[in-house]
Amino acid sequence: MSNINLEKLPKHIAIIMDGNGRWAKKRALNRIYGHENGIDSVREVVRTSREIGISYLTLYAFSEENWKRPKHEVDALMNLLKSFLKNELDEMLENGIRFQTIGRSGKLPEDVQRLLSDTSDKTSQNKDMVLNLALSYGGRQEILDAFQKIFMRVESRVLRPEEITEQTISDSLYTTGIPDPDLLIRTSGEYRISNFLLWQIAYTEIYITPTLWPDFRKEEYLAAIKEFQKRERRFGASEAE
Ligand code: IPE
Ligand code: IPE
Ligand code: MG
Repeated sequence: MSNINLEKLPKHIAIIMDGNGRWAKKRALNRIYGHENGIDSVREVVRTSREIGISYLTLYAFSEENWKRPKHEVDALMNLLKSFLKNELDEMLENGIRFQTIGRSGKLPEDVQRLLSDTSDKTSQNKDMVLNLALSYGGRQEILDAFQKIFMRVESRVLRPEEITEQTISDSLYTTGIPDPDLLIRTSGEYRISNFLLWQIAYTEIYITPTLWPDFRKEEYLAAIKEFQKRERRFGASEAE
């Protein structure tokens, strides 16, 4: 934690937690063990974020496209999610963490949906950090849903087409009220976005590491933040003189 500049922290960090399957495969284990061990990384990253004072942490836990996986793997992921929520509730309450989700959560099993809304309700007054879990999430689906919301407002004449701004679009996304991510981390060395936060990452700094998600722990998380702090963000302007 020592060399982190606490004055220059990313406000919002988003993470594509990838590589659980490969982590298990390397050990000749079932993929599910990879997911189980990945939970320890989730816990460590959440704790560290709260410790250093990150305001928003968005974790890509299950994509719209992940429904294509075999049923037994999807079931195992849902069970892991349930036990994570049950185990972490007390710590979220103690540490002022507000829990919320983005994505088409209506597609999730009913017991998972119930637990998600319980957890969101119970933590809704917390103010120190937002833990935002992307579940059944797809960036294109999010933009599509936003289009429909906006068009409905146009159709009912609450909004005129010429009044639509970038802010109208941002406000119609699942992430409404959450600032765009400053830093996006992807583990397991894949150089792709996989349908994550497409609109929101327009000017996000990207950090890709070959480390597989179950091996991504506090030390490397802090290293990613340190690397972010060395970057010069220009947002299209010229180099500062
Ligand atoms: C990420 O690990 C977890 C989820 C997508 C749910 P993977 O399961 O994608 O692991 P790899 O990419 O096959 O190694
Ligand atoms: C992205 O990982 C989704 C999550 C981490 C939840 P995937 O493993 O599903 O992505 P691809 O298939 O490698 O693009
Ligand atoms: Mg993967």
